This record gives sequence, C-alpha cells and structure tokens, in this order.
Amino acid sequence: MNKQPFTGKPLSRLEGHQKVTGSAKYAGEYEAEDLLYGYVVNSTITKGKIISIDKSEANKLEGIVEIFTHENRPSTGWFDFQYADMDAPPGTVFKPLKDNDIKYNGQPIALVVATTFEMARYAAYLIKVTYKEEEFTTDLKANYKLAREPKKGLASMLKPPPPKPTGDFEKAYKTSFVHHEGIFNHGTENHNPLEMFATTVIYEGKNKLKIYDKTQGTINSQLYVANVFGLKMKNVQVIAPFVGGAFGSGLRPQYQLFMAVMASLKLKRNVRVTLDRAQMYTFGHRPPTLQYTKFGANANGKVNAINHKAIGETSQFEDYVEVVVNWSAMLYPAENTLLEHKLVPLDVYTPLDMRAPGGSTGMHAIEITMDELAYQLNLDPLELRLINYSEIDKTTGKEYSSKELRACYLKGAEKFGWKERNPKPLSMKRGNKLVGYGMATGIWDANRLLARAQAIMTSDGKVTIKSAVTDIGTGTLTVMTQIAADELGLSIEDVTFLYADSKMPFAPIQGGSFTVATVGPAVKAACKALNKKIFKKAKKIEGSPLEKVKFEEVTFSDGCIIVTNDPKLKCTVQDVFKTNDGKEIKTTNTSMPNPLQYRKKARAVHSAVFVEVEVDETLGIIEVKRAVTAVAAGKIINPKTAESQILGGMIWGIGKALHEETITDHRFGKYMNANLAEYHIPVHADIPELGVLFVDEQDDFVNDLGVKGIGEIGIVGMAPAISNAIFHATGKRINDLPIHFDKLL
Ligand code: MOS
Repeated sequence: MNKQPFTGKPLSRLEGHQKVTGSAKYAGEYEAEDLLYGYVVNSTITKGKIISIDKSEANKLEGIVEIFTHENRPSTGWFDFQYADMDAPPGTVFKPLKDNDIKYNGQPIALVVATTFEMARYAAYLIKVTYKEEEFTTDLKANYKLAREPKKGLASMLKPPPPKPTGDFEKAYKTSFVHHEGIFNHGTENHNPLEMFATTVIYEGKNKLKIYDKTQGTINSQLYVANVFGLKMKNVQVIAPFVGGAFGSGLRPQYQLFMAVMASLKLKRNVRVTLDRAQMYTFGHRPPTLQYTKFGANANGKVNAINHKAIGETSQFEDYVEVVVNWSAMLYPAENTLLEHKLVPLDVYTPLDMRAPGGSTGMHAIEITMDELAYQLNLDPLELRLINYSEIDKTTGKEYSSKELRACYLKGAEKFGWKERNPKPLSMKRGNKLVGYGMATGIWDANRLLARAQAIMTSDGKVTIKSAVTDIGTGTLTVMTQIAADELGLSIEDVTFLYADSKMPFAPIQGGSFTVATVGPAVKAACKALNKKIFKKAKKIEGSPLEKVKFEEVTFSDGCIIVTNDPKLKCTVQDVFKTNDGKEIKTTNTSMPNPLQYRKKARAVHSAVFVEVEVDETLGIIEVKRAVTAVAAGKIINPKTAESQILGGMIWGIGKALHEETITDHRFGKYMNANLAEYHIPVHADIPELGVLFVDEQDDFVNDLGVKGIGEIGIVGMAPAISNAIFHATGKRINDLPIHFDKLL
C-alpha cells in the first residue's frame, strides 16, 4: 500500500496507535501550571426562579477559589445582545448564568472553581439553592395539539422545509388500490460519546487564551468565545486534535466552554471544566418525535399518495428543526403528496443534531409504511422499492448528480441472501426462535460548503497541509493525507496534515456528512496550487528542461517534476529550492461549489439495508443475527475508515431500534436514566456479523474528488429494516422505538 494512488486504498488510521495506547490527549487531559478545576451545579427544578443560593458551607472548604452564579458572574456584552453559533436554530440562544430564570431541568446555575476537581465537586454538593417553582410541561405526546409551524432561519439552507403539497392527496388516497396508515412514536435519545465534554483554558495574559475544547468545529468555538467575551479573534485559539466521539453534540459550543473561559478571564488563571456523564444529558438531545403516515398505491404497486406528518419537540427559546418528512417524496415519485413538520415548544433544552438528524427518524416511518404496502400488494418489499424507483428528485424535479441505489438493492440483496426469504410472516423458524428478514432504504444529503487549506513545502521536499477542521473519530486526518499525497505525488510519510486548530485556514463545523466533500477539495486545490508554484519556479531555473513545457504536461512524483510523455525531461524540487535560498514555498486556497451550478442537480447518498432477526417465541427476546448494508456514496477515499463509519452507524441503528431511550418523568420534567447503566446502548453481545459493501458510483458533479459523505447514512435504514424483520418474524407491527421484548408479549 506504499504506492500511489493512495485514495481508494484501505489505509489504517494514522493516529490509531495514539488513540489505542492512550497517548492521544483529549480536551480535559492537557496539563497546565497551577490549573484550577471547575464543577458545574445544575438546577434540580424544571421551571421557575432561583430565590437564593447559599454558598457558605461550600466556601468553608479548603481550596475553593470562587463560586460563580448569576449574582456575581462577570458581565459580558453578550448577555444583552444575541450571538449564536454556526449550528444555532432560530430563536434566542441559551446564556448560562444570565439571570435567576430556570428554563429546564439540569440547567447550569453555578460554577465552583477549586484547586482540585474533587474539592470543586464536593463543594458543589454543599451549595443550597432555594427556588420558586412554576408549572411546566415536558410531555410531547400529551401536548401534540400545541404543534405549530417552526420559525425559519439561516439553518434552513441545510435543513430545507417540507416541499409544498402536490396533486390532491385526499382524493388519490381514497381511490388507491391499497393504503396504509401508521402512527410512530420515537423517544428522546442522548449523545453518549466516550469522551465527555471538557474545556481546558490556558490563560496567556491579558485577554489572550489558548483553549483545548471538545468540539466539532474549532472556528465555531473561537467565534463563540470571541463574540461572547468581546475578545479579538487573534487572541482566541481553539485546539481539538482528538475528539472521542461527538455525533452532533459538538456542533454547538456547550456550556462548559462558556464556564471555563468566564472563570479563566475573571481569575486570570488556567481553568479546566469537565462535565460528568449525567451532565452530558443537560445540553441537547435527539428530540422525541411523533409521526403519522398515510400511503396509498395502485394495483401495479406504484405509490400515488403520500402523507407524512411529524411533530417534534423543541425548547421554549429556540426552534430546532430537522428534516423528517421530505425523504419519501425524494425517493418515491408519487403524484400526490402532503408533507408537514411541526414543533411543540416544551420546558426542555433545545434538541441537538444527532447522527442523521431527522433522516433516521423519518425513514423509520416511511420504510415501515412501504413494508406494509408490500404485504398488502403481495409484493416482495424489495420489488416494491424497484417499482417505485426514481431517477429524479420528484420534490424539485431535478436529476440526481448520481444515484446507484438500484445497485445497492441488488448487490445488498445478493450478499444477504434475500431470495431465501419466505414472504409470509411467521413462516420461518429455527427451534423455538421465529426468524424474520427485513429490508429498508436509506438516504441522506450530499452537501458541500466552503473551506480553505494551506500547503507548505519545505526544502526537504516534504509537505505540510493545514486546515482548522477537526477529526471527530471519522478518519479525517488519514483521508486528507491520502488526498494530499496523491495530488502532490508524494508518499504518505512525506505529507503531514495539521488540523483542528482555529489558527489554521477556515473549515466549517464537522457534521452533516459534508467534511470530506468540503475540506477534501480545499486540500486538493491547495496541493495543486503548490505544484503550480513549484512548476513555475522550476521553469525559471537556468537551462530548465521544463522551460517550454506546460503545467498540464507534467507529473509530480516523489520530489520530481517529470514530463509525462518524455520522462527523461525532469527537474527535482531540490533544484527549485536551490534558487529559492531553501525558503519554504506555500499557498493558501479557498474551495467552494459554484452556488448557481451546484443547485442544478439533486445530491444524495443512498443505502439498502437487509437484516435477519430471531425472536424467542415464548420470551419475546429479540436478537439481530446478521445485517448487510450496501452504500452508494460516490468515490470512497478510504474503504477501511469508510466501512468503520457504516459499521458504527449500523450498530447505532441496532441501539436505536432495540435499546436506546432517555426516560423522562414528566411529573418532575427530569431525565431519569442519565447514566450508561440505565441508558442502554448495544454491547458486543448485541452485535452480530455485519456486512458493508460500497457500490461503484461515479460522480463528476458533486466535487472534483467525486466524493459524497458517509458519516450518517449507516444509521438511516437500520432501525426500519430491524422493525420490518421483527414484523416478518412475529406478525407484530411495533412502531414505537425502542422495541423491547415486552412489546411483543
Ligand atoms: Mo452530525 S449529527 O452532523 O455530527
């Protein structure tokens, strides 16, 4: 694997050794001189006012430096004006310690700063808070009638509202040959990355900070700190080279960042604030969502009427929207559609993007409804998908830049052995286990934003690439190195990708499955520009063999610039550096899609998922026995890291279908299982053999690397495929997630 091209090859993660040996440092692990430790106190009521905060017992402890509350927090202009972050939904951003108003259970209300973490935490428990409680409501199901249209904001660029109604749904539905109605109820889910949120702030002198933050966007955190505290951008550096999972939770700056910076600036000291597992449940979650579907199809299986309504939860201060209902009309070209998405504001924190936000929710309802239609039509569920296959995105009338979903269906089915399926529910058995096969489609956006990258060649011929982008565990470091090495004609060892530092060239937050498609082209552009610069200098060398040669006619390979059709004619980069006094050669470039051009086509990644389950006939215990996901996502830069992304998504899909749910006691408005003992996620014993395959998909439109995104697609089709397999095994249709065995008894 030590030869070009590196793109397309399964390189192991370049930082893998650091991660598995523990030498990779996370935000809460950086050492600093005389470091102070902050521990956050959270509200125990859901709504009301703080009447008093008694710190006297806490202050008696040794090593307590300061206890910040709304009464003594430093004043910053931000408390009076609005600054939101790159992932903020429309509304008013939450401001920690602003005043005595309690908006949700678990709201941060104080920060204890001490010389040790243990002392800060102990002191936090001694603080006595009295409240005046007010009535609140946290129950989506009980309040669905309050549903209203979401407010529109900037976020709607990446999260478009539902397409307008087409045709006449009611009429078409009534006259359909078959129809099915479904009600779906998804619970709250919380992000549980292994690494919990933490920020270490190094106080570098008056108004100058170096910040190690757990985040999916170094520049997002930098902008936040600079704006909130009125600091100069150049005096705020945010660094996050290792992120122990985030899954969307790091798309917004979280309150530990605010707390740590506030304390550091006020005390002029180095400060670290870490959240514990329970506190991870106090800043956003996948919203509980109610859905209602009504699909009708003709006798030939063509879906002609689609109605999909969703009601999601939001907070009282921001309107969090996700794309739940748009997908059916993108996949299945029905003439009559009616799609709606509404919100119910409740006394909770604003929901937060979680892997395939909206898509994994909406596709569950859509693909179960399709499954039901297949049974009614006596059609194989796969056949029904093929009958309704669309070459265009019906919601916009646009052609897809590429769409190899058909190949996903066929190759996935073959690898899985779908044809062994007996179409009748309750027809397949293994001892006392009911066996079920289920399938589902997955879809997610293929987006691209603006990014910049810098390429620097030093006189030894080695190249460093810089970008502010993070690597949240997805393999960004490795993939960007592969892209750069290919463009430069260098080996992997001769390319260093430096990243996750806000001082480096701009990259947006890492999310939405758009990182490789966004930062990849910027890296490629910078490398190409560097090559051009070197080539120009090579031409100017006295007696240069390249004097009359054009850039298009040369190849860069291991430090040589070679005329492609006449390899005798070449020049080395060493020759170039001789004329350059050995000074480094560098370039910074911007890369973005042409905004007009880019909208001309629909862009999406697709998957087909096949699952086998076994359900114990007497006990109802459900086991996923095997699963195959076939993915079409353009060019795959690294099949190994890409496969890991899909496997992670599939595993999470098993969690979503069978395990995960945050339980709220609505009498208290409080999450009752904010810990990994009671918030169930899959463990090794829950995960069977999983198969991933990538089908070939050429796409010259999305970007010049032909890459789409694979971060989210792995989870999208998994929960519906499992639900459909459970129906096939048991004849029982359970639409509420997670499906626990008691629902089958
Ligand atoms: Mo992803 S939910 O955009 O990190």
